[in-house]
Amino acid sequence: MTTSTSPSFAPLDERSNSPLYRQLYHRVLTAIAAGTLSPGDRLPSARAMSKELGVARGTVELAYSLLASEGYLLALGQRGTVVNPELRTPERSVSAVTPTLEVIEDSDAIRRPLQLLPFQMGVPAMDAFPRKIWARLGARYLRGMRLGDLDYPAPHGLPALRSAIASYLQMSRGIDCGAHQVFITSGWRHSLSFVAQTLLQSGECAWVEDPGYPTTRQVLRQFGMGLEAVPVDGDGMNVEQAIATSKPAQVATVTPGHQSPLSMALSLPRRQLLLDWAARTGAWIVEDDYDSEYRYVSRPLPALASLDRNGRVLYAGTFSKVLFPGIRLAYLVVPQAQVTAFERVGRTLFSAGSPSITQALVAAFIAEGHFTRHIQRMRRLYNERRVMTIEALERSLPKGVQVDRSPGGMHLLLRLPEDTNDIALAKQLLARGMSVQALSRWYLSSQRHSGLLLSFTNCATAAQSEQLGALISKMLS
Ligand SMILES: Cc1ncc(COP(=O)(O)O)c(C=O)c1O
Repeated sequence: MTTSTSPSFAPLDERSNSPLYRQLYHRVLTAIAAGTLSPGDRLPSARAMSKELGVARGTVELAYSLLASEGYLLALGQRGTVVNPELRTPERSVSAVTPTLEVIEDSDAIRRPLQLLPFQMGVPAMDAFPRKIWARLGARYLRGMRLGDLDYPAPHGLPALRSAIASYLQMSRGIDCGAHQVFITSGWRHSLSFVAQTLLQSGECAWVEDPGYPTTRQVLRQFGMGLEAVPVDGDGMNVEQAIATSKPAQVATVTPGHQSPLSMALSLPRRQLLLDWAARTGAWIVEDDYDSEYRYVSRPLPALASLDRNGRVLYAGTFSKVLFPGIRLAYLVVPQAQVTAFERVGRTLFSAGSPSITQALVAAFIAEGHFTRHIQRMRRLYNERRVMTIEALERSLPKGVQVDRSPGGMHLLLRLPEDTNDIALAKQLLARGMSVQALSRWYLSSQRHSGLLLSFTNCATAAQSEQLGALISKMLS
């Protein structure tokens, strides 16, 4: 049972036509409907709530008693007021299929449903995360906490975590870096903003992959960068074309390990060309290595950063895929010569962004070998789920829809006939409780292809994929 005092307790509106008790009544109802307050959750006492809101206690009592008379709340005397434990709230499991869903805007092009749905992109297998181990490490950390642990975290990240990441990258991605080059961030958005703030100027130009991750474009635009869309072919970003025909850029953002969203790796000649271009022109390369841990077909190419002899590559990794996205923990590895500049900006603008407890738990998780074991287990599980999903889709999809067999990562691409409106199709599927994304939304230029992107990580049965295939068949017929 939890008591919620935020974030819904901004002051009530004294100038509104609606009486204060009514406003509070509606707030509590909205919080219950949105799932912010769940059955059994305890509300603050009328006295605490009235203090919090700066209103008379009677106002709160009136709102509570109205809600209790309608069955939303239960007054338990000394034990306080709780949300009626018998209230029914929306199901939150992966398999729950909700006919109509509200969506929130996640970025300019990606819509993320409010709850985890089958095929939802970007999320690892939630059912397979070793929560017992995590709980044990958490309990041990909490028991052993000292006063110093209550202070602000170390400015650029917990030293133990920075060195654990540096060793991991050396072993798994061939990146030769010291712990002082690793900066802890709260996610890709944070890492890219950190690069922009430290090395780029508003009005400069960035090369972005087309199609590419919409969030990347959004962050760069927020920094006032001009964007040049560079097409992607079977060898990844077409670097030759960018050099020959695109506006000169100060930065190129790439997903060389596993192109997002088309899944190929950036070929070795193109890696070299890109590195030479950056060294020659003084440009930066931001390597977004978001899910390279998962490769099923052949060995992954080493990270672009591992080939960089001129200090031009900023390497970004994240724990969103290998652990879970709710952890909000990622890292940026900067070239030796840029460490001081990043420390300066980090100290003033981006300092101490992630809670010490999270950093300490991940450091222990890595140091005690759980991280490597978890990745190995997930690689096996994802490969099984990937193969099962591909086979089930191939059995049930109509002719003309082709499954791209991605060699790695966590998602697949269904290529649709070019005249198909993939956005409308994705919307129809979302209304049936299946969260797939329209490929065309990932393009910046007007040279768009039609397709659907879907993740297989949470697909534990073939039936779900067959159902998706059958729905697509019906919708396209
Ligand atoms: C291409 C790409 N880069 C980076 C990320 C990681 O983002 P974050 O670290 O904010 O979870 C994602 C997540 O889906 C992604 O798809």
